[in-house]
Amino acid sequence: MKKLVVSTGAGISAESGLSTYRDAGGLWENYPVMQVASADGFQRDPALIHKFYNERRKQLVECAPNAAHYGLKELEDAFDVRIITQNVDDLHERAGSSHVLHLHGELMKVRSMTHPERVYDVRDITGGGIETSLSTRDPYGDPVRPHIVFFQEAVPNFAPAAELVQEADIFVVIGTSLVVYPAASLISYVRKGVPIYYIDPNPADTGTLPVTVIREKATEGVRKLAEILRTSH
Ligand code: OAD
Repeated sequence: MKKLVVSTGAGISAESGLSTYRDAGGLWENYPVMQVASADGFQRDPALIHKFYNERRKQLVECAPNAAHYGLKELEDAFDVRIITQNVDDLHERAGSSHVLHLHGELMKVRSMTHPERVYDVRDITGGGIETSLSTRDPYGDPVRPHIVFFQEAVPNFAPAAELVQEADIFVVIGTSLVVYPAASLISYVRKGVPIYYIDPNPADTGTLPVTVIREKATEGVRKLAEILRTSH
């Protein structure tokens, strides 16, 4: 089976009702990004950060995967599909995708402040709830924080992601503005001659790379991509 590596961003979840970050009305227009999504912001006002991610979890549990998420799952019939996502939502998992690597963390997870390797589903340590606060404790009695990669923090899953991209027989980018690094540099790890597809209604400039742009929203774009892949690969 050919290895189909797919890099997704906020655009793939837009039709599920989750805001993107940088489009008009996006999250970073309404919230100061350095307050709610940076290491400095977390140090300055951790209570605000708990509140912000509680709100985002509440939104996420009201949403469902869309046809783009399901379409990628269906491609597993014909391809060895590996998803690398910048998204912190769990919509790829809920659509049934078998291999999902999160570059920027996971909204439904929290981790120990003192033992970062202790990662929990938020519902497991809150008796089924989705909210955390400064007084939330893990089973060892330690405080927790969102399992999110804040700006100014390292991206531990970047190395395995870059390795996957190097192994790709086909590479697909969906719904990302390609401005946040190192995620945006993944495309430069694609081997020469490997076809690259980019689904986005408002795609970023990818320079001289040989990219086939599918200028569509994710649901329609993934439907078209599946047609192309089934007939020509
Ligand atoms: P952005 O908000 O920067 O970009 C969203 C992209 O999705 C844009 O290129 C839009 O044109 C596109 N888009 C909008 N609606 C779409 C639709 N229905 N179908 C397909 N594409 C659509 O989001 P990201 O590039 O994912 O990091 O942002 C990268 C990172 O910046 C995020 O992971 C997040 C943020 O700060 C952290 O929070 C750590």
